[in-house]
Amino acid sequence: MSQIIINGKKKLSGEVFISGAKNAAVAIIPAAIVSNDICLIENLPVIEDVAILSKTLESIGVKCEFKNNGHSLLIDSREVNNFCVEYDLIKRIRASYYLLGALLGRFRKAEVALPGGCNFGSRPIDQHIKGFTALGAEIFIEHGMIKAHAKKLIGTNIFLDVISVGATINIMLAAVYAEGTTVIENAAKEPHVVDVANFLNMLGAKIKGAGTNTIKIFGVKKLHGAEYSIIPDQIEAGTYMIASAITNGNIKVKNIIPKHLDSLSAKLREMNCEIKEGDDFIKVNASNKKLKSVNIKTMNYPGFPTDLQPQIATLLSVSSGTGIITETVWDNRFQYVDELKRLGADISIENRVAVIKGKEKLTGTQVCATDLRAGAALILAGLVSDGETKINNIKYIDRGYEQIEKKLSSLGANIKRI
Ligand code: EPU
Repeated sequence: MSQIIINGKKKLSGEVFISGAKNAAVAIIPAAIVSNDICLIENLPVIEDVAILSKTLESIGVKCEFKNNGHSLLIDSREVNNFCVEYDLIKRIRASYYLLGALLGRFRKAEVALPGGCNFGSRPIDQHIKGFTALGAEIFIEHGMIKAHAKKLIGTNIFLDVISVGATINIMLAAVYAEGTTVIENAAKEPHVVDVANFLNMLGAKIKGAGTNTIKIFGVKKLHGAEYSIIPDQIEAGTYMIASAITNGNIKVKNIIPKHLDSLSAKLREMNCEIKEGDDFIKVNASNKKLKSVNIKTMNYPGFPTDLQPQIATLLSVSSGTGIITETVWDNRFQYVDELKRLGADISIENRVAVIKGKEKLTGTQVCATDLRAGAALILAGLVSDGETKINNIKYIDRGYEQIEKKLSSLGANIKRI
């Protein structure tokens, strides 16, 4: 079993290049099969989730070929020969559920294993199903599979009861060829929702309003292939911005869309970091600064992202004063807190609220990643802890961060994988 070992207390400085966005990649790769043609997806992050997803596509007859050291993927979906995605694959990556929308949209039938729960609570897909049903699909759940089929799909108005990134994207995929116009109201506005809409439009779809809470999909008869480069990873970028803050460092985070990080930049400024933005970079300078605690509430975009909540909690653990985090997106996203406490953090949890009293220092020990962002939070904690921090269960980190030890080492961290 691999471990990441960090010897903390090094100030990080220099430049780091951000990879393509995981959550855009895991939606755009399945979206490519809607086209019945060949697509080249570029700027992919080289991470486990992308590798698993390409295997999932191959299991239904799609030809996938990685190029450019894994950063591009050629997807030929002209000969899909199976509409059934088995549990063995889907249990490894939740985003396989996008194949439900993509197959239903293109073939009007799909069978995909029900995704299981995950380490931060129940993850229902009722809003995806509500959308498919409204478009005219019949949905059955049998033997652990969601089976969807439709004689035809007809555009309609769908009002989401909760703002869901996954449901918004899945309904767009299913509605691309639907007769007439589909309107998704109370839609998610995350950058990767916009990226998927832009990709589908490149293929010939007609989608308007992505990035607002009303998305309109005007059904088309045919799509074609395209080359598309996905957006940079907002959460990876945010993690390195926090790495700069927590080590009193000075890091330039490059190849990003600064606007996507407005909520984090605002909080880091409030904490006393100096933030400079350019067209495609943000520089976070925290050298010789005493950082003070702030309160955070996670929200849908453009609010503070839940996927940066564990990382900012780690920063608050070593900032002066008391910070309160309210998690509004997931039921149970504080599981990493017990691990942070093993490093000396002072955090108490009451339902969805964490009260974090800043400490002068954390001290290294063995800890265990409980999910992807929890793993990132533990790496950040290791960077600032006295002595050695050993992180176990790093398979989670590999699902979403490309070459994290290499990128951090190049900024001056003492980090290695054994
Ligand atoms: N929800 C429902 N019903 C649904 C769908 C969602 O009640 O049918 C609820 C969820 O239980 C949750 C909230 O709505 O409370 C938001 O869920 P959403 O559907 O937006 O999440 P998701 O699409 O499953 C994506 C990201 C997550 C990120 C969330 C929120 C991907 C592959 N995953 O999940 O990313 O936390 O949006 O922004 O895009 C991560 O990258 O670490 C990660 C977990």
